[in-house]
Parts: sequence; structure tokens; C-alpha cells
Amino acid sequence: MAISNLLPSARTAFAIWGGLYAIAIGLLTTPYFQRHTIYLNALRFPWGAEYHLPHKYGLSPNKTFPFQLTTSDNETLGSWFILSDDLYQSLPVPAPNPESLVSEACRQYPTILFLHGNAATRAYSARVQHYSAFTSRLHANVLAIDYRGFAESTGQPSEEGLILDARAAWDWLIEQGAKGTDILIVGHSLGTGVSANLAAQLSDENIAYRGVVLMSPFSSISELLKTYNIFGLIPLMKPLHMIPYAANAITWALAHKFDTLSAVPRIKGEVMIVHAENDWDIPYEHSEVLFNAFLEKHLPAIDVPRTPSELSNQDWSSFSAQIDQRKDAKSRLLRHTEIEHLAVVDEFTDSSRDVTLVLLRQGGHDYVGTQEGFQDILGAKFGLVRGGKHAIKE
Ligand SMILES: *[C@@H]1O[C@H](CO)[C@@H](O)[C@H](O)[C@H]1NC(C)=O
Ligand SMILES: *[C@@H]1O[C@H](CO)[C@@H](O)[C@H](O)[C@H]1NC(C)=O
Repeated sequence: MAISNLLPSARTAFAIWGGLYAIAIGLLTTPYFQRHTIYLNALRFPWGAEYHLPHKYGLSPNKTFPFQLTTSDNETLGSWFILSDDLYQSLPVPAPNPESLVSEACRQYPTILFLHGNAATRAYSARVQHYSAFTSRLHANVLAIDYRGFAESTGQPSEEGLILDARAAWDWLIEQGAKGTDILIVGHSLGTGVSANLAAQLSDENIAYRGVVLMSPFSSISELLKTYNIFGLIPLMKPLHMIPYAANAITWALAHKFDTLSAVPRIKGEVMIVHAENDWDIPYEHSEVLFNAFLEKHLPAIDVPRTPSELSNQDWSSFSAQIDQRKDAKSRLLRHTEIEHLAVVDEFTDSSRDVTLVLLRQGGHDYVGTQEGFQDILGAKFGLVRGGKHAIKE
């Protein structure tokens, strides 16, 4: 076929795709579509799940207490409390009703409060793999909740709402007898925005927690939109850079900001940030931005020259000297470890707590926390690997 015959159809296709794209971006500025795009809570994988039967989704029978949690503003959240395998394996056969063991589990083992990402539910297979690893390899209980508007939970998602949900889960664990210092807050993807805000809130109230782990985080939703790839492939906002102010208009219209970066200065507990280099949904640079935000106040400031073109040689040398000082300060502060083929770990201590960045070679987006090698790093950092009762910090 001659190229001239191809051109009109190519042009039509281009016009159609361009039109659809314009509509999609226009819709993104409306609150309804924004909510559905960010939370994707209408995608209830696995479809038609029977949440009262967690063993249908990969957990052992009677290892999980399925229940409904009530939030301070009276929403009802579908929740699973999953026993530490150490406790579960010590039970007689058949195992008793797990509800009767919640309090004992909370007093004897650490608990991971798991705050999942957008789309799907707590019964989604990648998430169940996290619970299995946390309860077996790390000997911890897991509390997994579905935020408002997700799974069978009531209500509609919102930034404030999800933070209330996370707080309700925290309060429930404390009511069951868990100590704050035995609760590790673990967020994944969108859940890192929730986790960081919960950690900041607890820090504001001088409530101690074991730590907060941000897996595949983003620095803020507006930054994320700029780098987000649909299905890990198609950059959402890239074409917008051709239209002046279009990207800014979307950012401005954004009602759900989840600005983790601005929560950073309030977080007083131990922090671990984790990202896989091959995460095609959220680029790992978001984790570096967050880590650098924790680091920033320890580094000497730089006077950025306003008009670089007018700099004299002398100005230049003072400027580059400042940059060198900053690099030196950073390398003095950081403890750098490389575990071949697994991870690069950078860490520093900041007023008696550690901030750690783990860049994993593999793991993608959904499975980033499930590798044994990473679990060991996590367990060692947060005192979970010895197992059994030793895992509880006195
Ligand atoms: C909370 O919600 C339930 C229904 O989900 C309703 O029956 C109850 O009256 C509500 N309570 C308050 C204090 O609003
Ligand atoms: C689970 O618990 C119920 C009682 O709550 C018991 O009848 C059943 O046998 C248990 N199943 C297993 C596999 O332990």
C-alpha cells in the first residue's frame, strides 16, 4: 500500500486518540473522576470475594479473625487480624476461633499494621503474600484493613477519611492490648501517603511506634501524576507538557494531595523507605526525593546564584566548594551497604532514630516487600527476626 493511502487513517487515529486523551485529562479535573482515578476503589479484585473466609485467599484456616472496624466518624471497615505463625503453629488441632486469641497475640508478638495501595482489596493475592511473609518469616501479627469505599467497607474514600481509617486500626490494636512500640506501620504505594500521615499524627501526639515503612512510595500525588505511567507503560502527563499550564491546572484541581513530603518533618520515629528499581508504576526517584527530604536539614545550605551568567570565576569556585562540602557532609553521614544482586542500603541516624533507604534490584511494584532478602533487612532493622517472644521489645 502506498504511503499516501496510509496517511489519512493515521491522521484520523491520531485525532481520535488525541480527543479521547483531552477528554480523559478534562475529566481528571472533576472531583468524581479524580476520586475514582486516584483510589480505583471500584476495582474490587478479587471480584465477589467472601471476606469472612480468608482461607479461600491463601491464609490457613482459623489463622485470621475477620471483623468490622468502626472509625471515629462511624464508617465500617472490613478488616482481617492475622495471627503470627508462631502462635498459630502452637495451637491445638483443630485450632480455636482466632477471635479468642487476638488479645494474647497483640501482647506477645509485634503487629504490622498494613495499609494497602489503591485498587483491589485486602484479599488480593499480592497482598496476601505480604501477610504470609510478615506472619511467618517475620513472626508478626498483621492487621489489614480495607479503607472506606474499598471492598465491603462503607463510605467513600478521601484523604482525611483514609487517615481516620488508619487511626481507627491503630486505636483498635491498642484496645486489644498491643503496645505502640510493638506496632510497625507498613504502607504500600498509595498506602504510604496514609502511613506517613498516621506516623506524623502519632509523632505530634508523642505516641511511640516501632517504625514506619514506606514501600513504593510517591513524594506527593501532584509529583506522581507528572511521572505516573498507566499500566506501567504510558506516561499520563507527558503529552501535557506541550500545552502551557495544562499540567499545573490538573495539579491545582487536585483535591487528594497525599503530600508525603510535607509530612516528613513531623515524623519522629524510625523510617524505612523501600523501592524496586524496576517499579514501572512509580519511579524509584520518588523514594530518593523522600529520603533526601529527611537528610536535608543535616546538610549545609547552598547559596544558589540568581544569575549564573553573571558569575565571576571567584563566585564559581565558592559555589562549587559549597557543593563539595555538601557531598562530603552527605558521605560522612550516610552508612552505605551494597548486597550484590539484591539491594543498595543507605542509612543515617538523626536524633536517635534511623532513616533507611533500600533500593531493591528487583520486585516491581506489587511484590516489592515480599522477597526474603528484603524481609531479612526489614526484620533486622525493626527487631522482628529472632522470632517468638524475643521479638517483643521490653
Ligand atoms: C453509625 O452507623 C450505623 C449504620 O452503619 C447507624 O445505625 C448508627 O446509628 C450510626 N451511629 C452514629 C453515632 O451515627
Ligand atoms: C476452626 O475453628 C472452628 C471453631 O471456631 C472449628 O470448628 C474448626 O474445626 C477449626 N478448623 C481448623 C482447620 O482448625
